[in-house]
Amino acid sequence: MTKIAILKESTAGERRVAATPETVRKLVALGASIVVEGGAGEAASFPDEAFAAAGGTIAASDAVTSGADIVLAVQGPEPARLQGMASGGLLIATLDPAGAPARIKEYAAAGVQALAMEWIPRITRAQSMDVLSSQSNLAGYKAVIDAAAAYGRVFPMMMTAAGTVPAARVFVMGVGVAGLQAIATARRLGAQVSATDVRAATREQIESLGAKAIFVEKVAGIAGEGAGGYASEMSDEYKAAQAELVSSHIAKQDIVITTALIPGRPAPRLVSDAQLATMKPGSVLFDLAVAQGGNVEGSRPDEAVVRHGVTILGYGNTPSHLATESSALYARNLYNFLAAFWDRERAAPALPDDDEIVQAVRLTRGGAVVHPKLNT
Ligand code: NAI
Repeated sequence: MTKIAILKESTAGERRVAATPETVRKLVALGASIVVEGGAGEAASFPDEAFAAAGGTIAASDAVTSGADIVLAVQGPEPARLQGMASGGLLIATLDPAGAPARIKEYAAAGVQALAMEWIPRITRAQSMDVLSSQSNLAGYKAVIDAAAAYGRVFPMMMTAAGTVPAARVFVMGVGVAGLQAIATARRLGAQVSATDVRAATREQIESLGAKAIFVEKVAGIAGEGAGGYASEMSDEYKAAQAELVSSHIAKQDIVITTALIPGRPAPRLVSDAQLATMKPGSVLFDLAVAQGGNVEGSRPDEAVVRHGVTILGYGNTPSHLATESSALYARNLYNFLAAFWDRERAAPALPDDDEIVQAVRLTRGGAVVHPKLNT
């Protein structure tokens, strides 16, 4: 019988868990046996008893991976934690392959097949397995909620007998999955929302959410769209035009949410200290890219930095601040991946070599690093 182990996360500040009682029940229904490390779900409000009631067995830390065919985790565990796994077993987690290549070699040496869930391709068939989307969506929501709490003023316009309170102005920079949710959340709270992106395709999405699109116009060659629908690095001419546009717009904003990322590169700098100084005191910026180097000059992970009377927020791990829901969605992403490749006769996953999703996520196999992106 396929044995699946669920680890308790050991990275500081990581509150999520890779399975929930719901997905344990579904994995049991596939014919797997599930072992959950004691306390694995505690920080995400899933107690051991709930996992046990769902059909999981609770195990001590030193026993949980013993004989496991599959290990599920949120972040890549220390390779030593995988001792005792079945040879060729699957490690399924977000493994930061680009940022931690040495760790991936260690997984290869440990004889496991390491599967990096952040490399799930952005194709229709894999949407339900897309951990970046499920986590970014919640991060976009959380950024607005925490910026609103730090703002100390109201979001919606209020017409009262004592006079009118104006709506807060919110500007979202970067309109991928997180940015779209940030726009929707700020709109629900009643703010007046504007947004920008380098990808021209986002204009329609911004407008369909009832926000104003702010775009750099009349700069040659700026489709902004690179491979796989992601952004590409922009020209110097574009960057200068964008800085000018942002300077004039940002001074009028109460809240700015930045989400801009370019795959494989540090986050682009979108807001300088000089631009920050033009904002009204009491304004708030939330830098969702802070862990990748930051979109805002001066932002620091997990610190509220105050510059020129403006507060800059940003978390090293935003989804972890909504651990119950982010775990629930992440766990479903992993379940959907396993279920899609489940061989019902053997009650075990079968990962075909010629499958686009398998090729995209499989980093190691047979003691070697096998992913083309890691072997250049
Ligand atoms: P991301 O997290 O890589 O980047 C966030 C946003 O920042 C992107 O919209 C990007 O264009 C923007 N950006 C980058 N540099 C910028 C700059 N200098 N100024 C302003 N904005 C800048 O993006 P995410 O959320 O991962 O989405 C990437 C794409 O993938 C989108 O087109 C999205 O719709 C698509 N997608 C497709 C899926 C599917 O088909 N299964 C699932 C999820 C996303």
